[in-house]
Amino acid sequence: MSNELLNLCKKYKDLPYMQYEQAKVIQDIIIENNFNKILELGFYHGKSSLLIASILSNITNGHLTTLDIESATTRTPNIYKLLKDEKLSHKVTVKVCRRSYTFELMNEIISSSRPKYDLCYFDGGHTLDYTGFGFYLVDKLLNPGGIIIFDDLNWTIEKSQDAQKSKNSYQNYSDDEKKMQAVRVIFEHLVKDSGYECTEIKKLGWGIARKIKIPQ
Ligand SMILES: C[S@@+](CC[C@H](N)C(=O)[O-])C[C@H]1O[C@@H](n2cnc3c(N)ncnc32)[C@H](O)[C@@H]1O
Repeated sequence: MSNELLNLCKKYKDLPYMQYEQAKVIQDIIIENNFNKILELGFYHGKSSLLIASILSNITNGHLTTLDIESATTRTPNIYKLLKDEKLSHKVTVKVCRRSYTFELMNEIISSSRPKYDLCYFDGGHTLDYTGFGFYLVDKLLNPGGIIIFDDLNWTIEKSQDAQKSKNSYQNYSDDEKKMQAVRVIFEHLVKDSGYECTEIKKLGWGIARKIKIPQ
């Protein structure tokens, strides 16, 4: 299985963002825990979605639901092309959000058939508001024993090149908030206090949070 993943990573090595080392960690988590319902926040070109779909291609009922805003679908290549080219479209549900995944996640919570996920790869909206509220919503949709992977623990508005390009979006943020590692702050101060066992993979900038199983 690892070879398929490695081959895809080699084929798309110049495409941002997910790299083999990260995909391998996700693969190990999925296999070790028998996870099959996966949620992803932030697909961008769809590279991480493609790699997760490839991991799930060997798991009969494994499926990925991934969310991003419309602008991600206008990228070249985009998620639809990647999945079609690699014959993996059937493993992924792509949800395009008008403004933010928070609205779509809220709707999943209030729907009568609330889905339950085993794993969430949280890689979109690294600010305090999106990550904080996003975590609150994902928690409601995550099975006990499930895992949330928080990407970009060290991200700040001040150091982000993308944030610099869209300065208008951050004009109301104070200098102190621009310096804040918002994902890390939420991981260390909110997630740990909310019934999660937390570990950090420093070399990847990842926070791994496992929802503690409540004894029956
Ligand atoms: C770092 S990229 C994702 C990279 C991708 N996971 C990969 O590794 O290939 C972050 C993505 O999150 C999306 N994003 C940020 N905030 C969002 C929000 N509030 N709702 C939906 N998508 C969001 C951006 O549009 C962007 O495409």
